[in-house]
Amino acid sequence: MPAWIPQPTDDGSFTFFSEEFGEAFHSRQGARAEAFVKFAQATDLTQQVQRGYIRLLDVCYGLGYNTAAALETIWAIQPDCHVAVYGLELDASVPQAAIAPDLIQIWTPRVQGILRALALEYQFRDDYLQATLLIGDARQTVQQVHQQNFQADAIFFDPFSPRRCPQLWTIEFFQQVAQCLAPTGKLATYSRSASVRSALQTAGLQIGSIPLEESHLPHEWSQGTIASLDGSSLPPLSLMEQEHLQTRAAIPYRDPTLTDSADQILARHALEQQQSQLESTSSWRRRWGIH
Ligand SMILES: C[S@@+](CC[C@H](N)C(=O)[O-])C[C@H]1O[C@@H](n2cnc3c(N)ncnc32)[C@H](O)[C@@H]1O
Repeated sequence: MPAWIPQPTDDGSFTFFSEEFGEAFHSRQGARAEAFVKFAQATDLTQQVQRGYIRLLDVCYGLGYNTAAALETIWAIQPDCHVAVYGLELDASVPQAAIAPDLIQIWTPRVQGILRALALEYQFRDDYLQATLLIGDARQTVQQVHQQNFQADAIFFDPFSPRRCPQLWTIEFFQQVAQCLAPTGKLATYSRSASVRSALQTAGLQIGSIPLEESHLPHEWSQGTIASLDGSSLPPLSLMEQEHLQTRAAIPYRDPTLTDSADQILARHALEQQQSQLESTSSWRRRWGIH
């Protein structure tokens, strides 16, 4: 089991750093805050609770923060809302390390019990929640979710970044994930990259932008992407973001058999970019003053 050493983030919650992927699991600005803003809020859970039941698909469950923030959001408004959750995670040691007392105490006691059960038994059942954690490559486990005819009202899409983990940002993987999205459901991801957005569109989804909060760095233009099948009530892309999708940065990653390695997917992508006639992304950056 890799030794997962907790690293503090700016809101006082902890994240891990993956040596294998060369990246932290969360934004340095706040791991817990990111789970609420970019996933629970972005998928409109507070509106969705009116129905009395919610189905969640947590792609790349990791420490379980996105599931935990969603459950807290839902039950703060309606404590008897029924929830079904599928979490997909490659490495069981991550959720297991995340239930250490110092880390898990940021959540309510009810949610702590759920995170513990998911990490140790891979499932939790009571009168209000049915949750299952599927351990394995999400490219395969998502097919089990689809076979159950699971239709998620919210999908939290949270892999490591496209350059580090391209296998989970391909058109083909998004097609699999989209089959698990309810007609009125929403998928949220922190990525605002043009390649991710065009892969979502090619997989049949409509996209919008997660708007920036008041304080943000000058080079930022969005907090991520929100997608749905019908496109209704999505925050629109700015003209700058729309033009980004016409540049070489918008060439999507592909994985035709859903089995390629990261290196194979990156090499295929680099070749397609070299051969492309699309506008270069640096000229788009110059035009919009992005440095
Ligand atoms: C950015 S972290 C997710 C953070 C998580 N959502 C949380 O709130 O803690 C990415 C996660 O993806 C997992 N992962 C990497 N490759 C995967 C794959 N092929 N299938 C499923 N999970 C994968 C990693 O083990 C890691 O836990």
